[in-house]
Amino acid sequence: MKTILVTGGAGYIGSHTVLALGERGYDVVTLDNLSAGHRWAVRHGELVELDLLDREGLDRLFAARRFDAVVHFAAHIQVPESVERPLMYYVNNVGGTLNLLAAMVRHGPRYLIYSSSAAVYGIPEVIPVAEDAPLRPINPYGHTKAMVERILRDMARAGEIDYIALRYFNVAGADPGGRLGEGKEWAPHLITVAVRAAAGRRAGMTVFGTDYPTPDGTGVRDYIHVSDLAEAHVLALEHLLATGESGVFNCGYGRGYSVLEVLDAVREVTGVDFPVEYAGRRAGDPPALVADSRLIRERLGWQPRLDDLRLIVETAWRWELP
Ligand code: UFG
Repeated sequence: MKTILVTGGAGYIGSHTVLALGERGYDVVTLDNLSAGHRWAVRHGELVELDLLDREGLDRLFAARRFDAVVHFAAHIQVPESVERPLMYYVNNVGGTLNLLAAMVRHGPRYLIYSSSAAVYGIPEVIPVAEDAPLRPINPYGHTKAMVERILRDMARAGEIDYIALRYFNVAGADPGGRLGEGKEWAPHLITVAVRAAAGRRAGMTVFGTDYPTPDGTGVRDYIHVSDLAEAHVLALEHLLATGESGVFNCGYGRGYSVLEVLDAVREVTGVDFPVEYAGRRAGDPPALVADSRLIRERLGWQPRLDDLRLIVETAWRWELP
């Protein structure tokens, strides 16, 4: 049985992936400092409470245990926060990853699946955006992801590691089996915010920006169900373990929805009309981000099963209901 170390495995996407790996018969060890993750979210394997900035702790863990691969989620992930506190983002996202890579090079394993982001593209010239588009992040969060990708590429070229970077678009929804969802108290993402407004767990919500160069003026995103994304990780891991081939893949469905379209879907699925305010653009937000997702379908054989905005909203809604 293969043992996979999952950093950030107590977080939203990490926990869904830990579950998917467990269901495929992998032995999973979750490493998490629980700053944004939750103990309850680790539904498979063991949890090691550790911070990636603790180099000695990491070294001890890698010296004591043998891992076949690392899946690396642990990072700060909020774009607006990264604009306000860039140093915290660079230290944690880049510095933490460097510590992890140093431990891997010292002790093994050589295989890494990395959580990258569509934020590396900034404001793409061509939409849908493909993997070979130029990387021009427009916020510190996106820069941390692009920097780590660069480091991984250089290390792979030098033979120090093999990796697959997955560039996530807008991850949403919850485990269709109702076992997991986005962390209970902290959640800035559009679908979670809207569903919570519908559930009466917040007074209402705000639409950030109505003057974008998009059909209805609000931001357009490619929303992907978290369980389809978890499956993409399993496929990437299997591919990497089998071939040792490094690569970079977009993870999105290839279809964009505006904020207003998402809110319509939330009203329709929940049957609740909640208060919405309109405000200016949020710092660091691009107008539109939609994936060209051909590569991951072709190379990894990824076949999304939950590619439906209403289904995404429905699973998120079920998770939020008491
Ligand atoms: N939005 C609102 N109101 C809200 C929340 C969001 O109008 O209360 C809008 C945003 O302005 C944006 C869209 O909804 O137009 C999506 O915003 P999210 O906060 O849900 O997600 P982001 O697109 O800002 O960022 C997410 C992840 C990033 C990742 C990016 C990739 O948080 O880590 O998707 O597309 F890089």
